[in-house]
Amino acid sequence: MKGLFITFEGIDGSGKSTQAMLLKERFNQLNRPVVFTKEPGGTPLGEKIREILLNDNMNPVSEFLLFAADRKEHIKKIIIPSLSNGKIVISDRFADSSVAYQGFGRGVPIDFINFVHQNILSGLKPDLTFIIDILPETGLERLTGKDRIERGGIDFLNRVREGYLKLAGRDKRFVVIDGTAAPEKVANSVWEFFSRWESDNG
Ligand code: TYD
Repeated sequence: MKGLFITFEGIDGSGKSTQAMLLKERFNQLNRPVVFTKEPGGTPLGEKIREILLNDNMNPVSEFLLFAADRKEHIKKIIIPSLSNGKIVISDRFADSSVAYQGFGRGVPIDFINFVHQNILSGLKPDLTFIIDILPETGLERLTGKDRIERGGIDFLNRVREGYLKLAGRDKRFVVIDGTAAPEKVANSVWEFFSRWESDNG
């Protein structure tokens, strides 16, 4: 049985983690087999990598390669086994985060990022990616204690957001959802889209 791979993306403070959890709860209520996971830090090794990433200053290429190492573990240990068991896998961030943050945000060449991804993704691609979109100003207002990457500032987050919107224009798996409304409203938009998508593609 083939599973379903759904990812949530967006800038810091967009509310994508809340939305990923709310979608998971809907599937739980429907008794559908679902696994919730996240990047960075979905595995024990990933948790250690996450600590370094969120605290230590480093070159953008090193930063990308650490996210990539975390991703490879996550794919091998969690995502692929769960999909092979027919589960719906919901990941709070995945490869598009690196393209948006390290590529568009920090200037790591996108070709290099794509090359590394080709070698670590084992052909894996999300079936559906929700981009929860908000303005960086709004996102930053919502955040309390900020980590190193979140402290990148408005210009950085603007580049990340633009990057996501560019990606969304390139592939039909992306759905951009306005994240400014109340969480329940945003969750309803996500669910409506998903239901339609599933009846068209199921
Ligand atoms: P975290 O607090 O774990 O998650 P979030 O803020 O999304 O709830 O922090 C993750 C940070 O790492 C966030 O600022 C985005 C950033 N990030 C990248 O820069 N590149 C990546 O590939 C990933 C997965 C995350």
